[in-house]
Amino acid sequence: MGTPSDKKLIDENGLRLDGRGPDELRPIRIRTDVLERADGSAMIEWGGNKIIVAVYGPREAYPKHTQDIERAVIKARYNMAAFSVDERKRPGPDRRSVEISKVISEALTAAVMVEQFPRTQIDVFIEVVQADAGTRIASLTAASVALANAGIPMKDFVVGCTAGKVEGKVVLDLSKEEDNFGQADLPMAVLQKSGEVVLIQMDGELSKEEFDSAVAMIMDATKRIHEIQRNALVEKYQNIEAGGEE
Ligand code: CDP
Repeated sequence: MGTPSDKKLIDENGLRLDGRGPDELRPIRIRTDVLERADGSAMIEWGGNKIIVAVYGPREAYPKHTQDIERAVIKARYNMAAFSVDERKRPGPDRRSVEISKVISEALTAAVMVEQFPRTQIDVFIEVVQADAGTRIASLTAASVALANAGIPMKDFVVGCTAGKVEGKVVLDLSKEEDNFGQADLPMAVLQKSGEVVLIQMDGELSKEEFDSAVAMIMDATKRIHEIQRNALVEKYQNIEAGGEE
């Protein structure tokens, strides 16, 4: 990690490089039904992140040995486009994307009523077309909306956010520079109603107090983020009722 030599990440007034206060989120926008062929879809713009999620299923799990006789298997595939980052990313899966796909699949499994669809799979294709830090939690947040958009029965919504430590201060929703040069990064996702933690990872170091304060900031932010998820879904039904485009 380390610090960038030419600029401070937090100024004397406690403001960050992009002008945000410590517990402010970057702008977030979610739209549903962005793809015609998917059963459900969503696009999220979160700061500079742009991510599209397509959901297919539940459909018979294939190959057959992947079937679970008691529940649906959620297969999330997180992929970063070659042009999504500053330096061209080598196309295809790498260790990072395999890991992120796995943690996203597990988090979504906790939210979906998987026991209603034995022997099936639900595919969640995640394409990061522009990456700007926090893509795993933005992907999860959008995937949850895309699953609801596909009409898949869910127990709860998954909502994600990160917090971290930058120049000794705990801040919410790290930007790319803060992620690169900060001291800690804590992505976390919870089930909105129950508060159950379904993803937590950490890079760097936090004291117990800093960790508690980062978690509290994230929990508070998930309420705001869930409103955006809800509005994205409500918007769709308002459009249908008004006879406008779906
Ligand atoms: O995206 P997220 O914060 O969940 O995961 P990360 O592994 O902590 O990556 C942080 C950021 O680094 C990503 O959002 C990208 O902007 C960037 N990155 C990159 O530039 N090239 C890669 N091969 C992977 C990540």
